[in-house]
Amino acid sequence: MAASEREGYPFHLIPAPLIGWYRANRRALPWRENPTPYRVWVSEIMLQQTRVEAARDYYLRFLRELPDVRALAECPEEKLLKLWEGLGYYSRARNLQRAAKIVCERYGGVFPAEERALRELPGIGEYTAGAILSIAFGKRAPAVDGNVLRVASRLTEDPSPVSDPRYKAHLSRELAAVYPSEGRDCSDFTQALMELGALVCKPSSPDCAACPVRALCRAAEHGTQASFPVLPEKKEKRREDIFVFLIRTPRGIAVRKREAGVLKGMWEFPSLTLSDAGGKAAEDILKGWGMSAFKVERSRKYTHIFTHIRWDMTCFLVEADSAPFCVFSEAELESAVSLPTAFRQCLSLLEE
Ligand code: ADE
Repeated sequence: MAASEREGYPFHLIPAPLIGWYRANRRALPWRENPTPYRVWVSEIMLQQTRVEAARDYYLRFLRELPDVRALAECPEEKLLKLWEGLGYYSRARNLQRAAKIVCERYGGVFPAEERALRELPGIGEYTAGAILSIAFGKRAPAVDGNVLRVASRLTEDPSPVSDPRYKAHLSRELAAVYPSEGRDCSDFTQALMELGALVCKPSSPDCAACPVRALCRAAEHGTQASFPVLPEKKEKRREDIFVFLIRTPRGIAVRKREAGVLKGMWEFPSLTLSDAGGKAAEDILKGWGMSAFKVERSRKYTHIFTHIRWDMTCFLVEADSAPFCVFSEAELESAVSLPTAFRQCLSLLEE
């Protein structure tokens, strides 16, 4: 008897129908053609922060500019951040490059096919290592993401909160035990679990009639799909009020690198949180930065939602003779400067 049977749910029965279903129904996605470790790795990091449809264009552009790990290792940081612009979590892009440099220096540009070595690379955790090992190398390694947690919690009607790392660890062990033999089947089993979550076992309207493992699904049997997965309570996001200054001079628009807080190290339009402004008006903040000949033309409110913080932004359009910051023309801002979405949206203040 398989270990998974002893423990209750017959996980060993799911690979065959899932793999068959995947081969007939998988979406043609660019990272699925020629799934080298580099291509799988880049796609999985992107997919951790955006949906498949949005990731597709980013991925194609990234691979066109940086077709292999050596090109990524050698890419100027500004270009890398520009390729990542809009995806958020810029530390992930920096980690990609740090890892690429290590792969080049330590492994001659060839990815190691070994979990320990992969997980030593910056930004590669259990999930990404599992995805690379199974999808690119055909190894027996699960990659448990939100899709897979949802599928498994419904199949088993497991009441554990899916945010509990012990649940994820338990599921990884159960799945690892039933992986097919090494090769293409492993690659397809990992992707089948993700794809089932994306196309069929969707969060709010699962299409159980189309599910290849419906006969093995306890939630479908009992009509409890909506009760799984058990999600953690949503935490309120911390709110931060922030003044942003879109300072336009004859030579261009002022930007500077953020020195602290969220988006540290990224370009911004000069900004100040209200708590740091200590009740000062916009004009006084500008004077405090050493500016003299300027005029505040108008302002507009924007919001930006990060994972844990919500920014309520008031953006001021300021016309000035000069500014004590870097200045870039609008064309340069568009083509060469990586400006996080929170700030880039403020450019709409120019159009009035
Ligand atoms: N979500 C996460 N990884 C994925 C992949 N490789 N294909 C489709 N969706 C995914």
